[in-house]
Amino acid sequence: MRVGCVKEIKKHEYRVGLTPENVHAYCQHGHEVFIEAGAGEGSGFSDGAYEEMGATILTSADEVWASADMTVKIKEPLADEYDKIRENQIIYTYLHLAADKPLTEALLRRKAKAVAYETIRDKNGGLPLLKPMSEVAGRLSVQEGAKYLEKPMGGMGVLLGGVPGVPRARVAIIGGGVVGTNAAKIAVGMGADVVIIDMSLERLTYLDDLFGSNVQTMYSQEATIESEIKKADLVIGAVLIPGRAAPKLIKRKYLPGMKNGSVIVDVAVDQGGCCETTRATYHDDPVFVIDGVVHYCVANMPGAVARTSTIALTNATLRYGLTLADMGLEGALKKSPELSGGVNCYKGRLTCREVAESLGMEFTELGSLL
Ligand SMILES: NC(=O)c1ccc[n+]([C@@H]2O[C@H](COP(=O)([O-])OP(=O)(O)OC[C@H]3O[C@@H](n4cnc5c(N)ncnc54)[C@H](O)[C@@H]3O)[C@@H](O)[C@H]2O)c1
Repeated sequence: MRVGCVKEIKKHEYRVGLTPENVHAYCQHGHEVFIEAGAGEGSGFSDGAYEEMGATILTSADEVWASADMTVKIKEPLADEYDKIRENQIIYTYLHLAADKPLTEALLRRKAKAVAYETIRDKNGGLPLLKPMSEVAGRLSVQEGAKYLEKPMGGMGVLLGGVPGVPRARVAIIGGGVVGTNAAKIAVGMGADVVIIDMSLERLTYLDDLFGSNVQTMYSQEATIESEIKKADLVIGAVLIPGRAAPKLIKRKYLPGMKNGSVIVDVAVDQGGCCETTRATYHDDPVFVIDGVVHYCVANMPGAVARTSTIALTNATLRYGLTLADMGLEGALKKSPELSGGVNCYKGRLTCREVAESLGMEFTELGSLL
């Protein structure tokens, strides 16, 4: 198969769909790989590094789109890319179609085979291609929180770990899933006093076993959240109810009772945020202040650490990508049935039920088209 990878054109997106090591793996499997010149620059991969591993560098995105049987990306195609998509081309990337009718219509019109990272489910029902980005965002959330607690950055001027004779900072993590657990690891490592609040007793038991006396676990109730965020220096919002908007657990009315210069990092902003005052921000202007509380609400946090994120994500996408290239989509579905959850568009039909319901469009069972 001819596999292509273009440079992302979304604002401040520095990740790339393939690493040079991935190129080596595709070539070892007998595939040809085309990379747009400069595609890996934002993640620190030069054209030469791709070439050394066997890729052909093409000067324009148009040439890559035109050459590839399968295009591997990170972000969803943007409007400028719609008409470059070819019939029967496999598009393997994050798509988030439930919130993007124009892209859905374009993929159907172009009759692409669209495989979305975010809807591939493993045998246990987990989301293996979302997890690496939650791991990154969780770890980064504490790093960013620590930065904005610094006085020149607008925070109260507190060091997370304290020093001998000075109290450590208190970090309240709401939601103890992948993001919350990774946030806790870093916060504990930096010496903070950490509380994790979750509504799942099973999850709290797991976290208690994992962290022992290094963290305090608490059951999620309105009164508990209000009292914990008032004691906290840094609050991490990390809740998720799959497929739904995040519950607004941090109410506007709690803010005046919080510490002046405290920081909320609302990682759940991509699902609308778990704080009533959250609004999405970008890396070039990531924070705003309400009632003295610094809000950090960047919806694509992993983009800030593009190199780590690219490697983490491609570690997870490579296996399915190789199967798609080796066997074509139809063969790959037989070998890895879990890939079927990822197929959102096929032969001009919408084959993801959740997307169809969200957009009020017609759904077709994938099996009926194969
Ligand atoms: N901003 C970004 O760049 C970025 C990056 C990655 C992930 N995210 C987002 O972070 C959020 C968390 O992702 P995740 O992978 O950790 O999800 P997850 O499913 O692993 O964990 C979510 C946790 O929230 C808990 N929860 C649900 N409702 C709750 C409530 N009312 N009170 C307390 N806990 C509650 C669940 O029990 C679960 O443990 C998601 O919205 C995800 O999309 C954002």
